[in-house]
Amino acid sequence: MDYINIETTSAEPYASSMIETFRAIGYNLETAIADIIDNSISAFAKNIFFNSEWRGGKSFITILDDGCGMNNEELIQAMRPGAKHPLNDRSDNDLGRFGLGLKTASFSQCRKLIVLSKKKGYSPIYWIWDLDYVNKTGKWELVRYPIPDEFVNLLNNKESGTVVVWDKLDRIVSPDTLTSNEIAKERFLAQMDKVKQHLAMTFHRFIGEKIVKIYCWGHEINPWNPFLLDEPATQAFPEEHIGQAVMKGYVLPHKSHISKEIHKYAEGINGWSNQQGFYVYRGKRLMLAGDWLGLFRKEEHYKLVRIQIDLPNSLDSDWQIDIKKSTARPPFEYRDQIKSYAKTVRNRGVEVFRHRGKILTKKNQQEFQPFWLEKKQGKKLSFVINRNHLMITELKHLAKLEPDKAIEYLLRFIEETVPAKSIFIRESEDVGTFEPFESSNIEIVKIMISQIYKAQKESGKNSEQIKILLANMEPFNFFPELIESIEDYD
Ligand SMILES: Nc1ncnc2c1ncn2[C@@H]1O[C@H](COP(=O)(O)OP(=O)(O)OP(=O)(O)O)[C@@H](O)[C@H]1O
Ligand SMILES: [Mg+2]
Repeated sequence: MDYINIETTSAEPYASSMIETFRAIGYNLETAIADIIDNSISAFAKNIFFNSEWRGGKSFITILDDGCGMNNEELIQAMRPGAKHPLNDRSDNDLGRFGLGLKTASFSQCRKLIVLSKKKGYSPIYWIWDLDYVNKTGKWELVRYPIPDEFVNLLNNKESGTVVVWDKLDRIVSPDTLTSNEIAKERFLAQMDKVKQHLAMTFHRFIGEKIVKIYCWGHEINPWNPFLLDEPATQAFPEEHIGQAVMKGYVLPHKSHISKEIHKYAEGINGWSNQQGFYVYRGKRLMLAGDWLGLFRKEEHYKLVRIQIDLPNSLDSDWQIDIKKSTARPPFEYRDQIKSYAKTVRNRGVEVFRHRGKILTKKNQQEFQPFWLEKKQGKKLSFVINRNHLMITELKHLAKLEPDKAIEYLLRFIEETVPAKSIFIRESEDVGTFEPFESSNIEIVKIMISQIYKAQKESGKNSEQIKILLANMEPFNFFPELIESIEDYD
């Protein structure tokens, strides 16, 4: 259609309702700050300073960078919602896509966004989005009125750079909160601390590769790398390409193979179990940290598995990257490939989790001797003690000399090593399990029943009493017919 000579009528969005709607895109404080920092990195900043200042209801946040900055026209353009077209090509290092982040991330947390910027060779400039003004006037208009020197001064001594100020943080502290309100202050500080952890994770490659330094309240933050690359016990899988994207799987070491400090470090923000899954990077920027992308569920026994996926920004639309840069969906045609790669890594992960990695580190070709064995019959599974285990042989010798001791030792070893984890895993895999003695000769049950029967008889109990006793005793309660016919034994 050529759209010439057709009837039209204007249906522009109402500024006041539209701009309030921007607030509901679903950022949280951490993801919102990360979006602002994306812009600083795209503007080639080397140093980025995140600061928060507690002043009760008048608290504020500033993010300062020493990137290329903007002149007046560029700043006005940057403040415009939809500043850039989402379908435009972006340079490889550009973390932006929608031309919205600066606005949506900011409005999700505050009612007043001030951006001050200085481009080399230009005077510093600032503009304000004041939601109260937009609400009152219904106009898509930036405003400028005097702002505190403490903001203006942030660009002093900088050749170029940008400051984003979030004022009227109504989503973080209610406006009438007093500075002296200690409880509110604690809550505020706790939220800010989470920001620091989130930044250390989201931008760990930039920090680790010394592309940028990020400071929180003046202190440089250290990167949080999810893959424990420096630990010798970390197992890395070969890379695999999925179209233009690349996967690389890691199985982190079992707890027993790393120090307490490293174990604590690796648990990240959400804890070991929650941090399993894919780590999806857009460029060097982490978007999803521990998510199975709807392909698997998170389960305790896969908690050592983390798989890196690297996406170039040219795949944004194929992978359905959202405005917050916090979700991604693998294209349909690659799902099977991703799933099958992940399965291999997950299988290894479960092995390390269950066997503490020992099975994988066979020393001198020595055969590993498990104490418990998994025995499969059809679709059903049972766990049996390995009769060939050297310790069993030794216990038999000991039993000849000190039977009580031998039995006690055996019981202790069974108690201590019950393969609870494996049972738990198999349970969730929906494998059937046997009832006691279901798959084997029950002769020994009979022997034990009759032994107990005789002994109890000798101690003066009658048949009826003994049957009741046995019917209430594991595992004999599973064999009522054997108990019933007890008099016919021999
Ligand atoms: N700190 C900054 N330094 C220099 N330029 C900036 C800075 N922040 C924003 N800009 C400019 O403003 C534009 C709009 O930023 P905004 O975050 O709204 O959108 P985007 O980054 O292009 O895309 P996205 O919506 O995906 O974040 C950027 O493309 C950039 O040109
Ligand atoms: Mg952006």
